[in-house]
Amino acid sequence: MNAVNHSKTGWVFTGSNGDFCLKQPDRSSFLYFPLVNEGGMMSSISPKLHGQVTSGHNTFLTPPLSVEDLHNSRASRNFWVYVDGKGAWSAAGNSARQNAGMYGEEADDTELEAGLLWHRVTRESRELGIKAEITSFVPAGNDKVELMKVVLTNTSTEVLAVTPTAAVPLYARSADDLRDHRHVTSLLNRIYTSAHGIEVQPALSFDERGHRVNYTSYGVFGAAEGGDQPTGFFPVQEEFIGEGGSLDWPEAVVLNREPQIGAGGGVHREGYEALGGLRFAGVSLQPGQSMSYVLVLAIGSERIDIAALMDKYGSVRAFDAMLQENKTFWADKVNTVEFHTSDPVADQWMKWVTLQPVLRRLYGNSFLPYHDYGRGGRGWRDLWQDCLALLIMEPGDVRSLLLNNYAGVRIDGSNATIIGQQPGEFIADRNNIPRVWMDHGAWPFLTTMLYLDQSGDLDFLLEQQSYFRDSFMARCRERDVSWDASADSMLQAANGEPYTGTILEHILLQNLVPFFNVGEHNNILLEGADWNDGLDMAAQRGESVTFTSFYASNLLDLSRLLRMLKERKGIETLELAEEMALLLDSLHEAVDYESVSDKRGRLDRYYAAAPNRVSGVRAELALDSIADDLARKAEWIFDHLRRNEWIQSAQGDGWFNGYYNNDGERVEGESGHNVRMTLTGQVFPLLGHAAAPEQIPQIIAAVERNLYDEKIGYRLNSNFGGIQQNLGRAFGFAFGHKENGAMFSHMTVMYGNALYKRGYVKEGRKVLDSLYSLSVNFELSRMYPGIPEYISEQGRGMYTYLTGSASWLLLTMVTEVFGVKGKLGDLLLQPKLMKDQFDQNGKASVRTIFAERQLDVVYTAASGAEYGGCQIHSVTLNGAVVTLQRVSEGVLIPRSVLTALPEEGVHLLQVELA
Ligand code: G1P
Repeated sequence: MNAVNHSKTGWVFTGSNGDFCLKQPDRSSFLYFPLVNEGGMMSSISPKLHGQVTSGHNTFLTPPLSVEDLHNSRASRNFWVYVDGKGAWSAAGNSARQNAGMYGEEADDTELEAGLLWHRVTRESRELGIKAEITSFVPAGNDKVELMKVVLTNTSTEVLAVTPTAAVPLYARSADDLRDHRHVTSLLNRIYTSAHGIEVQPALSFDERGHRVNYTSYGVFGAAEGGDQPTGFFPVQEEFIGEGGSLDWPEAVVLNREPQIGAGGGVHREGYEALGGLRFAGVSLQPGQSMSYVLVLAIGSERIDIAALMDKYGSVRAFDAMLQENKTFWADKVNTVEFHTSDPVADQWMKWVTLQPVLRRLYGNSFLPYHDYGRGGRGWRDLWQDCLALLIMEPGDVRSLLLNNYAGVRIDGSNATIIGQQPGEFIADRNNIPRVWMDHGAWPFLTTMLYLDQSGDLDFLLEQQSYFRDSFMARCRERDVSWDASADSMLQAANGEPYTGTILEHILLQNLVPFFNVGEHNNILLEGADWNDGLDMAAQRGESVTFTSFYASNLLDLSRLLRMLKERKGIETLELAEEMALLLDSLHEAVDYESVSDKRGRLDRYYAAAPNRVSGVRAELALDSIADDLARKAEWIFDHLRRNEWIQSAQGDGWFNGYYNNDGERVEGESGHNVRMTLTGQVFPLLGHAAAPEQIPQIIAAVERNLYDEKIGYRLNSNFGGIQQNLGRAFGFAFGHKENGAMFSHMTVMYGNALYKRGYVKEGRKVLDSLYSLSVNFELSRMYPGIPEYISEQGRGMYTYLTGSASWLLLTMVTEVFGVKGKLGDLLLQPKLMKDQFDQNGKASVRTIFAERQLDVVYTAASGAEYGGCQIHSVTLNGAVVTLQRVSEGVLIPRSVLTALPEEGVHLLQVELA
């Protein structure tokens, strides 16, 4: 990436493993950091220790929050110190006194240090002569635990007598209760104090799931250095804050009150908002002397075994050891991919991008402060796109993941939208929300094709898998009244047995049905929305031209894949559900593709033939004929799009119209100064085959002219003006925000990817660079290293951490920029590096996994060599010369050469460009 002006980089990397530090982090709003483990603990933490601690929608330990609460709510993790003669001070910075002093001379000095995945804030009050260093992490493993260590140091020249009190609000219930019966649900609280802390196990869970006995338990426990237990407890929030007090100026601390419950606990309280309020013994700190405290925040599926928990986590020694383990755990995960270019800052920044797909796998799209929606789980689209990154980072698990995911496909080519926790668990929609996102069917093939290219595992296509069914049929246009909500959700054949078909059959269905499901302009209907969730108000007449081109490219690639299947596996015929023959029309009764009504008529015949069940009879069809049919369909669409959807601008450039609205009107175009254009409309024709080579420079010029804004990068769309009630809610958002004209990372990265793919490397580089520069421009973006979902009108990085764009950026860097990609199992090297991406020794490298081997692919360029002006001159593998097998795109290394290598260790592929 291009070197950036680092004076604008608020945070600075401190080593080479992604660790960074930031001075005065509390002077930037909206900052938060993720702390998480594979066991389901999901925390977030701000520089003032705000954030939330939860293991799911119904099990929040701290109150659920939105990003605004990070600065406006007082209910955060806190650690208080009462200094004799000087009063109360919050080691987290959360006190009325510190807030009041925030802009003055007396403000605390603060510094943040963070890494994979730990968080430390050091805060010092020069006025009081005290410093607190608070380290937080969620230990790797299966326990739902967050750990916090507080080290207090006397930085004054006198002895300080201090009384510490930890205070963590224990909300202990479902996010739904925040608005619905917040008070009544506090009456359910059963609060227990014991030697190390406070535990809450509400008697019932009281939400829309019904009133059920609750078993989940929540606790805050602690110990001082040396193992000393707390000396008293404040389990009830209102008693801790006192009449007229608040969590940022609690009477119990400010007046240094003795706790009502003394050492050992044993007292049981009921029916109040709870608090993990732990008083530790007062201590006299000599100048320079420190004292440490460890806090354990835990969620248990039943009453917590506190002795075992504290034994495992509750000491400074255990904390320090586990922190190390945690760092190693996350480093190992992220370091499966590593980049080395001329810009070490960009290389380290990529570590955080590499982490992001893992975070999305763990959090879904919920449970971080911006992500204040959803109830956990992931959407269908995200499921498939997250697999793109997993194929690069954790390829071992992907085959079964993909196989399981296909069980979500319905026989009408649509899919389940409620996705369970377990792989392949799809849940019937009993809430009766009929909605089809028309893009959903397109992504699985893209991900599967990447898998096939990386692995060469063509047998995967012939694996059997079931189909999903619920009460929705004909893409939610009809209801299956015979479907019984208690029935399982597997499609059945006429004999009542579950029907299974090959993965290939599933893919064909997903891409064939949309071909016929067209609107009045003969493009595929927009239905509930496409990739842009915000285009959700054109379900009747809206058309997504851009996804029409995506489906067409899939059809062509599928046709080619079928021919490969024949060539490599000698397969001549395919067995498909007999009803599907209707969709392969050219095999027997060809449909006139120009006729919208003929297409729809054919689709209706198919729906009638497979009405949420199939006969179970399979037809054996010639593979060549199917491949011909698919190619014919694809070519028809390409021709249709180029003829009808190309907008030739008076300015000399041109672009593809991406949409029709619900009034059947073309969305994009220009009249005078008023230009309507979407980036999405361009990305899919470019990514696939719809954009003809001569159209590409025109599209690039139009994007630069209409969508590029130096301040915020490539906008998702130009300013349409008005709220577009015939298109979608996105246009209700102010222009320049989120899905209405912000720089939306996901589409920007895909645009970059498409440009690289089509050989427009300099242009693609500019796109990726813009994303990087905007993200690391801390002065404006105010975000930690990583890529945001979007950049707002003001340049702020929004919805940090959880975004599908990270998967795409990682994929683009490995497979396009560094050109390390699979070709049906063989390794293709096709680097697209520019001169200034090589370091001063002329090297650029990537570490990645291919053929179950870790490879360091090191490119060396004779001076000045770069994409376009050089080619691969020689390749050595662990020092031995590899005979070059040149193909049109680059150099191919047969998989067998790699699988002959030992599985352990890192293998060095040195590639010389000249
Ligand atoms: C989000 C959603 C993604 C959707 C996009 C546009 O993007 O997660 O599914 O396609 O908005 O509406 P992301 O968070 O992945 O950047």
